[in-house]
Amino acid sequence: MTRFPPSSTRIIPDIACVPRHIAIIMDGNGRWAKQRFMPRVMGHQRGVETLRDVVKACRELNVEYLTVFAFSSENWRRPADEVSFLMSLFLKMLEREVVKLHENNIRLKIIGDRSRFDDKLKKSMQEGEQLTANNTALTLTIAANYGGRWDVMYAVKAMLNDHPHLAQTFTEEDLQPYLSMSDAPEPDLFIRTGGEQRISNFMLWQLAYTELYFTDTLWPSFDRKELDKAIASYQKRERRFGRTSEQLTREQLTSEQLFGQPEGEQNA
Ligand code: IPE
Ligand code: IPE
Ligand code: MG
Repeated sequence: MTRFPPSSTRIIPDIACVPRHIAIIMDGNGRWAKQRFMPRVMGHQRGVETLRDVVKACRELNVEYLTVFAFSSENWRRPADEVSFLMSLFLKMLEREVVKLHENNIRLKIIGDRSRFDDKLKKSMQEGEQLTANNTALTLTIAANYGGRWDVMYAVKAMLNDHPHLAQTFTEEDLQPYLSMSDAPEPDLFIRTGGEQRISNFMLWQLAYTELYFTDTLWPSFDRKELDKAIASYQKRERRFGRTSEQLTREQLTSEQLFGQPEGEQNA
């Protein structure tokens, strides 16, 4: 198994670069439709178009991981007809888009509790993941019936099931392989569209040190220019991971001692 740094808090990514991992809460579909006197579900439909454009942009920018929140474990509380529209939209999207993802060397992953989805959707998810499993350009992870608390609870239970003797002593590193994003580095940049400034139970564990970006733009109106703006904002941040500003300058000079040799300079 490829081992990623157990936590971004150990290694400081190069801020000048495009983020390796972008996580997005795609919010504001309903309001986008309402503003246009259309039913809410039309906003979801347009939201799929936005997702397609953002995936394409991330692929072009060489972002390695894009993780999007499509349906939260709390979204079952919505009116039954909206929930069932979202389920059929998800199925249609998989049926239509998976081949295109594959042609573009994109790996599809779905995280969340699948037990509540119907068999057809479950099958389609599994087939999409299987077909694209060995693709290497971008990993697109869709969070569906996902909740950050569910993720942590599920991981703890699975870990203790495998290693009951760790109950009193387990560490972050013991838990890491059981979390649903265990094969990816933690997100560098989190984007939430739609104006709300909250996490809504998305990736609670993994967002610990992620740079947060909120925009009022509603998801169906989010475009390449908006994505570039979010990345530019990220590139202006200073990621300190608990250290002081002064330490960062010093650490750049002595990064070899502190973090090991930086990647790409092994033979320098
Ligand atoms: C996000 O848009 C999509 C889902 C939660 C499925 P919303 O449907 O939450 O749109 P608003 O927030 O009501 O505008
Ligand atoms: C969060 O959006 C979940 C998704 C975008 C899938 P919501 O619109 O459901 O979030 P809250 O309820 O306003 O926090
Ligand atoms: Mg919303």
